[in-house]
Amino acid sequence: MTTLGTSAKRRSSKLPAGQLPVAQSREELVRERAKLRGPIGLVMTMGALHDGHGSLIREATKFGNVMVTIFVNPLQFGAGEDLDRYPRTLGADLELCARAGACLVFAPTPDVVYPNGSPLVRIDPGPGGAMLEGASRPGHFAGVLTVVNKMLNLTRPDRAYFGEKDFQQLTLIERMVADLDMPVTIEGVPTWRDPDGLAMSSRNRYLSAGHRPTALALSQALAAGSKVAAHGREAVLDAARAAFAAHPDLKVDRLDLVDPVTLEDATSGPSRLLVAGILTGQTGPIRLIDNTALTLGVA
Ligand code: PAF
Repeated sequence: MTTLGTSAKRRSSKLPAGQLPVAQSREELVRERAKLRGPIGLVMTMGALHDGHGSLIREATKFGNVMVTIFVNPLQFGAGEDLDRYPRTLGADLELCARAGACLVFAPTPDVVYPNGSPLVRIDPGPGGAMLEGASRPGHFAGVLTVVNKMLNLTRPDRAYFGEKDFQQLTLIERMVADLDMPVTIEGVPTWRDPDGLAMSSRNRYLSAGHRPTALALSQALAAGSKVAAHGREAVLDAARAAFAAHPDLKVDRLDLVDPVTLEDATSGPSRLLVAGILTGQTGPIRLIDNTALTLGVA
């Protein structure tokens, strides 16, 4: 444990960052977890925390004690992705966790999470893992579901909170929990945005001030599509494409309009518009995603 371990029994007030218990080994986690009484909410993260994570933690505090995991999961990064340069900011992360009301942090290294090396047995996300984001990032969702499953087993929360920003991830986690009868309730939390509309993301810290207007193409495409939802699928996709066309510096990686449960193409009713774009950063490509709910009319 890196910091002191005051009793973690159902804390109603926030702990100063210096007093937040931080378990790094499995043994420390078991010891600190045993001190928690009452309902436990879990927020899983890869660190580089921002106020979007803060909103998840704050939401979870309405339910009970909040545990946060901080772990950059190698399994969900593909070759050529940003695993090595993914921001690691543990000190600032712990401050944010404490401010938002967390009462225990689990921040293991890869050898603690994967003591036998890269796992031979992994969670198969099914067809939903190969479509949309999964088509651009093969193996990504198997890596996500495997670590989510392991973290749930290690921390044993009553509820786990995930942001709607990673909508496909949230959908696949809900499906895993339902299909495998896992004893936890999954809560989706709306995307937290900067005042200009940019969805908060750990990768936003790669953006320079000059990138920002281009990055806003994503939320602008979503707004343009939502505005014409009553006119049907093609109207939404055309409006989103037109919004992207105003930002030639952004490479549109994905534009999908899907059923929120099956993730198949949506033609009417409640739907999800999903976008992904790539900007050229100083240290490599910056891939951003965003999405919104809308109700499609029939054209
Ligand atoms: O959304 C994330 O930050 C990660 O995919 C998660 C759920 C923490 C698993 O590594």
